[in-house]
Amino acid sequence: MIAVDAFDLVIFGGTGDLATRKLIPAMYHRHCAGQLPAQGRIIALGRNDLGRDGYLDAISGKSRALITESYFDESQWHGFIERIDYCKLDAGSEADFETLAELLRDAKERIRIFYLSTSPDLFAGICQRLERSGLAQPSSRVVLEKPLGYDLKSADEINACLETVFSEQQIYRIDHYLGKESVQNLMALRFGNSIFEPLWRRGKIRDVQITLAEKIGVEGRGEFYDSTGALRDMVQNHLMQLLCIVAMEPPITMDADNVRDEKLKVIRSLEPFTPESVLSDAVRGQYLGGDFDGARISGYLDEPGVGEGSQTETFVALKAKINNWRWSGVPFYLRTGKRMHTQVSEVVIDFYSMPHDIYPASSGSSNSNRLYIRLQPHESIELHLMAKQAGDQNVLKPVKLDLDLVGQGERHLDAYERLLMDVVRGNQTLFVRRDELNAAWKWVEPVLNTWDALDRPPDTYATDSTGPASARELVGRDGNRWIEDI
Ligand code: BG6
Repeated sequence: MIAVDAFDLVIFGGTGDLATRKLIPAMYHRHCAGQLPAQGRIIALGRNDLGRDGYLDAISGKSRALITESYFDESQWHGFIERIDYCKLDAGSEADFETLAELLRDAKERIRIFYLSTSPDLFAGICQRLERSGLAQPSSRVVLEKPLGYDLKSADEINACLETVFSEQQIYRIDHYLGKESVQNLMALRFGNSIFEPLWRRGKIRDVQITLAEKIGVEGRGEFYDSTGALRDMVQNHLMQLLCIVAMEPPITMDADNVRDEKLKVIRSLEPFTPESVLSDAVRGQYLGGDFDGARISGYLDEPGVGEGSQTETFVALKAKINNWRWSGVPFYLRTGKRMHTQVSEVVIDFYSMPHDIYPASSGSSNSNRLYIRLQPHESIELHLMAKQAGDQNVLKPVKLDLDLVGQGERHLDAYERLLMDVVRGNQTLFVRRDELNAAWKWVEPVLNTWDALDRPPDTYATDSTGPASARELVGRDGNRWIEDI
């Protein structure tokens, strides 16, 4: 086990959803795994004067409920909450930062991690106040939640301001998809084995489909979501990071900059969208109301916080083209949506069929060579092949080879457990560098701009469906189908 130095994890937005639902449970699990040093503290910050007891009461309700019963241990929980403190802080108040500095004064030698789980508008101001109150030290680290900015310009402004306080080596831009176990496994599969490498390219792979489909709607975040939309919320970050992991060249080492250099090359190889290609290669949708899991569900336009006649997209499908030697001519179809029929996050690598089929058409030999990297609902990696059915006939059947590199029955770490420990250990490999972020904004911006200029409502789709018909047409134009339609 890698030794971890004493640290203070200071969470801005400590009473918010992310902190209570993800960060606190993640740190509890790492505490139980014996990974946190005795001198590891968590200081949650929030605008309300809850006091430590009030905060502990709140997380004992919300956070504890999210820890799977079989992993919950009362005495471990008591040991864990001993590490937690709470401090009232208004992000705009210099005096509150002074109070925080006072609280942290006797622990200058510790690694200080400032986790900004707040709206991105507050990032720059918080960093400046950290500096003015003497809290930003060379050993400090700052973690920023997505979305970082609203477009390239705003992201650049935030980053420029951050860099007056922290160096790039101190900035951890989080994309929790990179912390998911199956994403690590995909890298292990690609770069820890030799057998896939010759197949991982044009000529062998017909298309790649990356789907992040959610059954949930905007879940009380209507106001935030309405000014964000699926392209900014899911495509610019999670989908593009997954695309990079699938398409990147082997890095020289797993060091942060070597990995990020390769991801950056992928983003730079993406064919830029033009107003014309947005019309043919990008689809946006918005969900209608309907029956969902036995209940009547509002359409997006009736969600609280959503503006009248809003044109914000809750579904996006894109065709990405990577213009380099490995991938030229291989379409990468990216898709995400809310209120979809299934909850699934997966990457599907669709290999070409055999050049000549020796089995009779009725034998079921249609191509089934696909690699499924599933992130949700259960993390797994499966290779789908064809095998002969037992018996005296040449009849084939699809079989699945389980390539999950995590042992059966082992607990999969939540993405935030892995990423938080990486911050504590100072490992930036799974965090997004500024140039990567800029390149990603640059690629999605023409899509956003074209949609804005069109001033036309998104295509609609029924709740509990696979998205608008136009998404099927998008892949159909290449003679392809989405994986669930095959
Ligand atoms: C977040 C988005 O980044 O990812 C949410 O803001 C989305 O809208 C969530 O629901 C999905 O994450 P996961 O890990 O549940 O697939």
